[in-house]
Amino acid sequence: MRVPPRTAAPHVPPAAGIDALRAAAATCKGCELHARGTQTVFGQGARGAALMFVGEQPGDREDLAGRPFVGPAGQLLDAALARAGIERRAVYVTNAVKHFKWEPRGPRRIHQAPSAGEIAACRPWLEAEVRAIQPRVIVCLGVTAARAIFGRAVRLGDLRGGPHGDSPLGVPVFVTIHPSAILRLPERTLQDAELARLVEDLRAAARSVSPEAAPS
Ligand code: URA
Repeated sequence: MRVPPRTAAPHVPPAAGIDALRAAAATCKGCELHARGTQTVFGQGARGAALMFVGEQPGDREDLAGRPFVGPAGQLLDAALARAGIERRAVYVTNAVKHFKWEPRGPRRIHQAPSAGEIAACRPWLEAEVRAIQPRVIVCLGVTAARAIFGRAVRLGDLRGGPHGDSPLGVPVFVTIHPSAILRLPERTLQDAELARLVEDLRAAARSVSPEAAPS
Protein backbone atom coordinates (compact mmCIF):
# COMPACT_ATOMS: atom_id res chain seq x y z
CA MET A 1 0.00 0.00 0.00
CA ARG A 2 1.30 3.43 -0.95
CA VAL A 3 2.05 5.67 2.04
CA PRO A 4 0.64 9.19 1.49
CA PRO A 5 3.35 11.90 1.43
CA ARG A 6 3.88 13.77 4.70
CA THR A 7 2.61 17.35 4.70
CA ALA A 8 2.20 20.27 7.07
CA ALA A 9 -1.07 21.22 5.34
CA PRO A 10 -3.47 20.03 8.12
CA HIS A 11 -1.51 22.10 10.66
CA VAL A 12 -1.78 25.38 8.71
CA PRO A 13 -4.73 27.54 9.81
CA PRO A 14 -6.55 28.98 6.77
CA ALA A 15 -6.43 32.74 6.09
CA ALA A 16 -4.30 33.33 9.19
CA GLY A 17 -2.05 36.28 9.91
CA ILE A 18 1.62 35.79 10.58
CA ASP A 19 1.31 35.59 14.39
CA ALA A 20 -1.36 32.87 14.21
CA LEU A 21 0.76 30.99 11.67
CA ARG A 22 3.82 31.17 13.90
CA ALA A 23 1.82 29.90 16.88
CA ALA A 24 0.38 26.99 14.87
CA ALA A 25 3.77 26.09 13.39
CA ALA A 26 5.19 25.66 16.90
CA THR A 27 3.31 22.34 17.19
CA CYS A 28 3.62 21.17 13.58
CA LYS A 29 4.16 17.44 13.13
CA GLY A 30 3.87 17.50 9.36
CA CYS A 31 7.08 15.49 8.94
CA GLU A 32 9.51 13.59 11.14
CA LEU A 33 11.87 16.53 11.61
CA HIS A 34 9.80 17.97 14.48
CA ALA A 35 11.21 15.18 16.64
CA ARG A 36 14.80 16.15 15.85
CA GLY A 37 14.77 19.93 16.16
CA THR A 38 14.59 21.80 19.45
CA GLN A 39 11.73 23.93 18.16
CA THR A 40 10.08 25.21 15.01
CA VAL A 41 12.03 28.14 13.60
CA PHE A 42 9.41 30.24 11.85
CA GLY A 43 10.04 33.25 9.65
CA GLN A 44 10.64 36.65 11.15
CA GLY A 45 10.54 40.21 9.95
CA ALA A 46 8.44 43.09 8.83
CA ARG A 47 4.74 42.61 8.15
CA GLY A 48 4.06 43.73 4.60
CA ALA A 49 7.76 43.50 3.73
CA ALA A 50 8.39 44.03 0.03
CA LEU A 51 11.26 41.54 0.09
CA MET A 52 11.01 38.00 1.45
CA PHE A 53 14.22 35.97 1.81
CA VAL A 54 14.03 32.18 1.91
CA GLY A 55 16.93 30.04 3.14
CA GLU A 56 17.25 26.27 3.48
CA GLN A 57 16.59 25.30 7.10
CA PRO A 58 17.64 26.57 10.53
CA GLY A 59 21.15 25.65 11.61
CA ASP A 60 22.42 24.77 15.06
CA ARG A 61 22.32 28.35 16.36
CA GLU A 62 18.91 29.09 14.86
CA ASP A 63 17.50 25.86 16.32
CA LEU A 64 18.51 26.98 19.81
CA ALA A 65 17.53 30.64 19.38
CA GLY A 66 14.24 29.94 17.58
CA ARG A 67 15.00 32.64 15.01
CA PRO A 68 16.20 32.31 11.38
CA PHE A 69 19.65 33.37 10.19
CA VAL A 70 21.23 34.34 13.51
CA GLY A 71 24.36 32.14 13.21
CA PRO A 72 27.42 32.51 10.94
CA ALA A 73 25.37 32.38 7.72
CA GLY A 74 23.02 34.99 9.17
CA GLN A 75 25.91 37.28 10.02
CA LEU A 76 27.14 37.05 6.45
CA LEU A 77 23.62 37.68 5.18
CA ASP A 78 23.40 40.76 7.42
CA ALA A 79 26.72 42.04 6.04
CA ALA A 80 25.55 41.47 2.45
CA LEU A 81 22.21 43.20 3.12
CA ALA A 82 24.00 46.18 4.67
CA ARG A 83 26.34 46.47 1.66
CA ALA A 84 23.31 46.30 -0.64
CA GLY A 85 21.61 49.09 1.29
CA ILE A 86 18.81 46.83 2.56
CA GLU A 87 17.70 47.04 6.19
CA ARG A 88 17.17 43.60 7.68
CA ARG A 89 14.37 44.86 9.87
CA ALA A 90 12.51 46.01 6.74
CA VAL A 91 12.47 42.54 5.15
CA TYR A 92 11.02 39.13 6.06
CA VAL A 93 13.41 36.19 6.46
CA THR A 94 12.35 32.55 6.56
CA ASN A 95 13.42 29.05 5.55
CA ALA A 96 12.08 26.39 3.19
CA VAL A 97 12.14 23.87 6.06
CA LYS A 98 11.31 25.03 9.57
CA HIS A 99 13.15 22.41 11.65
CA PHE A 100 16.88 21.75 11.99
CA LYS A 101 17.87 18.41 10.45
CA TRP A 102 21.05 17.09 11.96
CA GLU A 103 22.99 13.99 12.92
CA PRO A 104 25.24 13.59 15.96
CA ARG A 105 29.01 13.52 15.50
CA GLY A 106 30.62 13.30 18.89
CA PRO A 107 29.31 16.27 20.86
CA ARG A 108 28.39 18.20 17.70
CA ARG A 109 25.16 18.38 15.73
CA ILE A 110 26.05 18.19 12.06
CA HIS A 111 23.73 19.74 9.46
CA GLN A 112 22.03 17.32 7.07
CA ALA A 113 20.37 18.53 3.89
CA PRO A 114 16.58 18.20 3.93
CA SER A 115 15.12 15.62 1.55
CA ALA A 116 12.77 16.46 -1.31
CA GLY A 117 9.93 14.98 0.76
CA GLU A 118 10.73 17.19 3.76
CA ILE A 119 10.93 20.28 1.57
CA ALA A 120 7.54 19.44 0.02
CA ALA A 121 6.01 18.64 3.43
CA CYS A 122 6.99 22.07 4.78
CA ARG A 123 5.88 24.02 1.69
CA PRO A 124 2.39 24.82 3.01
CA TRP A 125 4.04 27.01 5.67
CA LEU A 126 5.96 28.91 3.01
CA GLU A 127 2.79 29.36 0.97
CA ALA A 128 0.99 30.65 4.07
CA GLU A 129 3.82 33.08 4.87
CA VAL A 130 3.63 34.44 1.31
CA ARG A 131 -0.16 34.89 1.64
CA ALA A 132 0.22 36.67 5.00
CA ILE A 133 3.20 38.91 4.16
CA GLN A 134 2.36 39.49 0.47
CA PRO A 135 5.94 40.29 -0.55
CA ARG A 136 6.53 41.90 -3.93
CA VAL A 137 9.61 39.78 -4.51
CA ILE A 138 10.98 36.53 -3.06
CA VAL A 139 14.75 36.00 -2.90
CA CYS A 140 15.83 32.36 -2.75
CA LEU A 141 19.09 31.91 -0.89
CA GLY A 142 20.38 28.73 -2.50
CA VAL A 143 18.90 25.80 -4.35
CA THR A 144 16.83 24.29 -1.53
CA ALA A 145 14.78 27.47 -1.33
CA ALA A 146 14.47 27.52 -5.12
CA ARG A 147 13.40 23.88 -5.09
CA ALA A 148 10.73 24.69 -2.50
CA ILE A 149 9.38 27.56 -4.59
CA PHE A 150 9.55 25.98 -8.04
CA GLY A 151 8.66 22.46 -6.88
CA ARG A 152 11.51 20.79 -8.76
CA ALA A 153 15.25 20.29 -8.47
CA VAL A 154 17.12 23.33 -9.80
CA ARG A 155 20.73 24.29 -10.41
CA LEU A 156 21.98 27.64 -9.18
CA GLY A 157 23.72 28.36 -12.48
CA ASP A 158 20.48 27.83 -14.41
CA LEU A 159 18.29 30.13 -12.33
CA ARG A 160 20.64 32.63 -10.68
CA GLY A 161 19.34 36.19 -10.94
CA GLY A 162 15.83 37.22 -11.80
CA PRO A 163 13.16 38.31 -11.64
CA HIS A 164 11.58 35.01 -12.64
CA GLY A 165 7.98 36.00 -13.23
CA ASP A 166 6.70 32.46 -13.66
CA SER A 167 6.97 31.39 -10.03
CA PRO A 168 4.19 29.03 -8.90
CA LEU A 169 3.58 31.22 -5.84
CA GLY A 170 2.60 34.14 -8.06
CA VAL A 171 5.39 36.41 -6.80
CA PRO A 172 8.48 37.25 -8.88
CA VAL A 173 11.54 35.34 -7.65
CA PHE A 174 15.26 36.05 -7.58
CA VAL A 175 17.71 33.21 -6.98
CA THR A 176 21.15 33.68 -5.50
CA ILE A 177 23.82 31.81 -3.59
CA HIS A 178 23.30 30.69 0.00
CA PRO A 179 25.61 32.53 2.44
CA SER A 180 26.75 29.16 3.88
CA ALA A 181 28.06 28.19 0.44
CA ILE A 182 30.26 31.30 0.54
CA LEU A 183 31.53 30.41 4.01
CA ARG A 184 32.49 26.94 2.77
CA LEU A 185 34.75 28.30 -0.01
CA PRO A 186 38.37 27.43 0.77
CA GLU A 187 40.02 30.78 0.05
CA ARG A 188 39.36 34.29 1.23
CA THR A 189 39.66 35.72 -2.28
CA LEU A 190 36.95 33.34 -3.52
CA GLN A 191 34.73 34.25 -0.58
CA ASP A 192 35.18 37.96 -1.26
CA ALA A 193 34.31 37.52 -4.94
CA GLU A 194 31.18 35.46 -4.17
CA LEU A 195 30.11 37.89 -1.48
CA ALA A 196 30.37 40.73 -4.02
CA ARG A 197 28.15 38.72 -6.42
CA LEU A 198 25.63 38.08 -3.65
CA VAL A 199 25.52 41.80 -2.87
CA GLU A 200 24.90 42.56 -6.57
CA ASP A 201 22.05 40.01 -6.64
CA LEU A 202 20.50 41.58 -3.53
CA ARG A 203 20.79 45.05 -5.08
CA ALA A 204 19.01 43.80 -8.20
CA ALA A 205 16.18 42.36 -6.09
CA ALA A 206 15.88 45.62 -4.12
CA ARG A 207 15.87 47.71 -7.32
CA SER A 208 13.06 45.57 -8.72
CA VAL A 209 10.74 46.71 -5.91
CA SER A 210 12.13 50.24 -5.58
CA PRO A 211 14.03 51.41 -8.67
CA GLU A 212 15.75 54.27 -6.83
CA ALA A 213 17.14 51.84 -4.19
CA ALA A 214 20.56 50.34 -4.02
CA PRO A 215 22.42 51.66 -7.08
CA SER A 216 25.43 49.50 -8.06
N1 URA B 1 20.98 28.54 6.97
C1 URA B 1 19.71 28.68 6.53
O1 URA B 1 19.38 28.29 5.42
N2 URA B 1 18.82 29.24 7.34
C2 URA B 1 19.11 29.67 8.55
O2 URA B 1 18.21 30.17 9.23
C3 URA B 1 20.44 29.53 8.99
C4 URA B 1 21.35 28.97 8.20
